[in-house]
Amino acid sequence: MNKIIVAIDGPAGTGKSTTAKILAKKLGVLYIDSGAMYRCITFLVLKNNVDVNDVEKIISLAKDAKIELSDEKVVLNGVDVSKDIRTLEVTNKVSTISKIKEVRKILVDKQREYANENSVIMDGRDIGTVVFPNADFKFFLICDLKTRAIRRQQDFLDLGQKISLEKIIMEIKKRDDIDSKRAESPLRKAKDAIEVDTTNMIIEEQVDFLFKKITNTET
Ligand code: DC
Repeated sequence: MNKIIVAIDGPAGTGKSTTAKILAKKLGVLYIDSGAMYRCITFLVLKNNVDVNDVEKIISLAKDAKIELSDEKVVLNGVDVSKDIRTLEVTNKVSTISKIKEVRKILVDKQREYANENSVIMDGRDIGTVVFPNADFKFFLICDLKTRAIRRQQDFLDLGQKISLEKIIMEIKKRDDIDSKRAESPLRKAKDAIEVDTTNMIIEEQVDFLFKKITNTET
């Protein structure tokens, strides 16, 4: 297979990461979770008690951050932070940190580096619009709010955090709102992206749908 770049974008809880991870394995390509990178910077901000308005300090944390992504874990400055970056505290702040233009530039450069030598599947918010506008395949996943919230609630439960559905619905709405209204690289469907509504799909169906589009094996 020639080198390919697959971009998967969409709001929180549409199943992007799970789909992308399985798909990457099936295709034998590298999977990059760009949201994990924004979460790492947010985690550092919280851990170091940095004010979210202290943009200079946040930029310097982002510049110095050594993020290593693999299928199994996210390693930040030598420490496994796979679970720490998924807590509600990080989730609640990540959209604010992601708005910072310079932070985005630092992380987008890193994201593009991954694709220099590898075929990649990358999921996020601006992958098909900004990071890889020439991606070979672009998908935009959508899903109704309640279904997304139920999926997120299970993710938090897996981490040992029991959170009410109402609270999660509020968190998702707020995050979608900030992510889609920000000035820098807002969440938006690329003109040439294929929209996939995952509301009534199980993960296997989502993976299968994208796999067939990519390998051109639709029946
Ligand atoms: O996919 P996720 O929920 O882990 O992403 C966390 C946040 O990171 C998301 O709310 C906005 C930000 N993000 C972004 O701004 N651009 C990306 N390409 C990926 C994520």
